[in-house]
Amino acid sequence: MDNIAVISQMRQLINLLAQHNHAYYVMDQPSITDSEYDQLFHQLKALEEQYPDCIQADTPTNKVGGQALSKFENMTHTVPMLSLGNVFNEEELFAFARRAEERLPNQQIQYDVELKFDGLAISLWYENGVLVRGVTRGDGETGEVITENIKTIRNLPKILSSDTSAIPELLEVRGEVLMPKAGFEKLNAENEAKGEKTFANPRNAAAGSLRQLDPNIAAARPLAFYAYGIAQCEPMHHLNTMSESLTWLNQLGFAVGERHFVCDSIQDVQAAYEKINQERPSLSVEIDGMVIKVNDLKQQKQLGFLSREPRWATAYKFPAVAALTTVDHIDWQVGRTGALTPVARLNPVAVGGVTISNVTLHNIGEIHRLDVRIGDTVSVYRSGDVIPKVEKVWLDFRPDTAIPVVLPECCPVCASPVVMPEGEALARCSGGLYCAAQRIEAIRHFVSRKAMDIEGLGDRWAESLLHLDLLKDVSDIYHLHEHREKLLTIEKMGEKSVQNLIDSIENSKKTTFANFIFALGIRGVGENTSRMLSNTFQTLEALRAADVEALKKTPDVGDITAEWIADFFQAEHNLEVVNRLIEAGIHWDAPIAPSRQPLNGESWVITGTLSQMGREEATQILQALGARVSGSISSKTKCLVAGEKAGSKLEKAEKAGVKVMTEAEFLEFIQQYQ
Ligand code: IVH
Repeated sequence: MDNIAVISQMRQLINLLAQHNHAYYVMDQPSITDSEYDQLFHQLKALEEQYPDCIQADTPTNKVGGQALSKFENMTHTVPMLSLGNVFNEEELFAFARRAEERLPNQQIQYDVELKFDGLAISLWYENGVLVRGVTRGDGETGEVITENIKTIRNLPKILSSDTSAIPELLEVRGEVLMPKAGFEKLNAENEAKGEKTFANPRNAAAGSLRQLDPNIAAARPLAFYAYGIAQCEPMHHLNTMSESLTWLNQLGFAVGERHFVCDSIQDVQAAYEKINQERPSLSVEIDGMVIKVNDLKQQKQLGFLSREPRWATAYKFPAVAALTTVDHIDWQVGRTGALTPVARLNPVAVGGVTISNVTLHNIGEIHRLDVRIGDTVSVYRSGDVIPKVEKVWLDFRPDTAIPVVLPECCPVCASPVVMPEGEALARCSGGLYCAAQRIEAIRHFVSRKAMDIEGLGDRWAESLLHLDLLKDVSDIYHLHEHREKLLTIEKMGEKSVQNLIDSIENSKKTTFANFIFALGIRGVGENTSRMLSNTFQTLEALRAADVEALKKTPDVGDITAEWIADFFQAEHNLEVVNRLIEAGIHWDAPIAPSRQPLNGESWVITGTLSQMGREEATQILQALGARVSGSISSKTKCLVAGEKAGSKLEKAEKAGVKVMTEAEFLEFIQQYQ
C-alpha cells in the first residue's frame, strides 16, 4: 500500500471510531458492540504499527508523542478552578436559594441540576477546535499538565466539530475525568485474575490512571470525561443559560451527565435530588451528590463569588453512607492465581440500607496504611452500589486487646508456604498445582493447547469435574476413565462426549518435554522458557535436580524465575503430582541433543510474509535448532527474518543494528542443518 492509501484507510477508521464513540458516550445509543469497536480499534493500531509515519494526529490510539514523562509540568490556570460550597439537607438547600433570591430581588430563578461526578476535575484547552492541553485542578490556581494521558480518554473529543455552530478560536472546557462503574469492575476483575493490585473505588482508579507518567498505561484504563462548564470562549458563543451551555458542549462532541434538569423552583430541585438519590445505583458513573446551579448566566454574573466559592452554585451531597462497627476477625482468601486477599469480618452493620458483614482490605499494604487491627472500631463506607470499604480506623476506640494483623506464613487453603517477593504488593500461596483454590486455573492451563492439549476439558467440563470431586489435582485427569458412570451424570455429557474426552486424554499422554514443563504452570515459566529448560536439561530428572545456579544458566531464565522453578521442585506435593503424571503414562521423545542445537539460547524474530513457508513452520524450525522466537526486537535479538511487507520491526532492527535475513537467505541458512 502506498502512503496515500494507508492514510485514507486510517482516516476512515478514525472517523468510524469517532462516530461510534459519539453514539456510545454522547447519544447513549451504542451503534456497534464493544467487540466490534475493539476490532476497528485494533485494525487501526495494526496499521499504525506497520506505517508509523502515517499516524494521524487525532488518532484515538494515541501513540503520537505518547512518550513516558519523568514528571508532569505545572501550569497556572488563567481562570482559577474554584470549589463549591456544600449543603446536606433540605433546610440548607432552601437557605442557599434564599440567599440567591435576596440578591436578585423580584427575579424568577431557574435552577440547573446536574450530577456531581466523583472523579477528578480537569481543564481542557482547544485552539481552533484542536485539543492542545489538559491540566488537573491541582490547588485550583496551579495544576499539572497531563495532556498525553487526557488524549487517551476515548470519549473525549480531540478535535471539535459541529454541524450547527462555528468552532471558537479558544475554548476552555471544565469537567470531570472518572472511571465508569462497569469499566472499574472489569479492570479490578482483570487485575485480580492476573494477581495484580485492585483499586478500592473508581475515584482512586481514575486518579491512579491519570497520574501515570506513561500514557500507554492510562490508555489501557477505561476512563471517561464529562463536561460541566466553560471557563473561556473566544469569540464568545451566544449562550443564555447553563443548560444551553451543556447542550452546546454536547453538540461539540462532549459527553455530559446522563441526567440533568432545569427546575422552576427550589422544591423541584429537592424532588430531583431525591429522585437521583434513588436512581444512583443504576447510573453508569459514581456520583456523590448533585450540583445545583442558577441557570441564567446573567444572574450568575450578578451573584458572583464569595471568596473561593460561587454564590450561584452549590453541591448538594448525598447523605454519607458510612457507619461504625468493629472488626471481629481477618480472613485470608486465596484467589485463582494464588494471591492472598485479606477480608475483614465485621460485626454486621447497616450502611445505606444494606447490611455489611465483610469487607475486602485488598492487600497487606492497605492493612498497614489503615493500621487496622482485630478488635478495632472502623468506619465502613459504601459509595453508590460499589463494594464497601473501610474508610478509617478510630484509634480512640482501640482496645488494649486489639491484635495486629500479620501475613500468614502458610496458605489457609493448602498450608503451603506463603511468599511475597520484594517490591510486590501481593502475597501468594506457593502451593501451585496442589492448592485447591488454584485448582481450576491450574487445570485449565494444564489442558490448554500449548500444554497437554486435551480438547474440550478446560472450557467445557473442568468446573463439573471439580464439582464431582473427580479432580483433586491435575494427575487425576489420567484416572477419569475409571469413573465413566460418574462422568455420564454431568449435564450434556453423553456416551460420545465421554469417549471423546477419554480419547483426547489418552492421546495427550504422548507429548514433548517442553509442553510437559509448560503444563506444570510454574510461575514465570512460559512456552519459550519451557523449551529452553527442555533443551538445556534434556530429562525430567536433571531438571528436578537442578539448583538455582544451574537454572540461571538457562537462556531465558532470570534470577527470580530460577528461584521459582527451584521452589516448585522442592515442594513435596508438586513432586507427588509430577510422579503421578509420569506413572499415568505421560511420556515424550528425548529432546534434540544440545550438540544439535546450534542456535541454542539465541533470540530470533520473524516479520512480514514468508512465501516459501508459513511463519509457524519457520518458527518451529528455529525452535528445533534451539532458538527462542520472540515477537519484538530488543537488544538481545540475534537476527530478524524479514519477509515481504516487513514494517516497523525491520526499521527497528536496522536502527538497532540487528542482523537481518531475507527469506531466501534464511532458507539457505537453515539448509546447512537439514
Ligand atoms: S461546577 C466554580 N459541576 O465538584 C466551580 N462541578 O466542589 C464550578 N464537580 O472540583 C464547578 N461534578 O470537579 C461542577 N456537574 C458538576 C460537577 C462538579 C463534579 C466537582 C468539580 C469540583 C468540585 C467542586
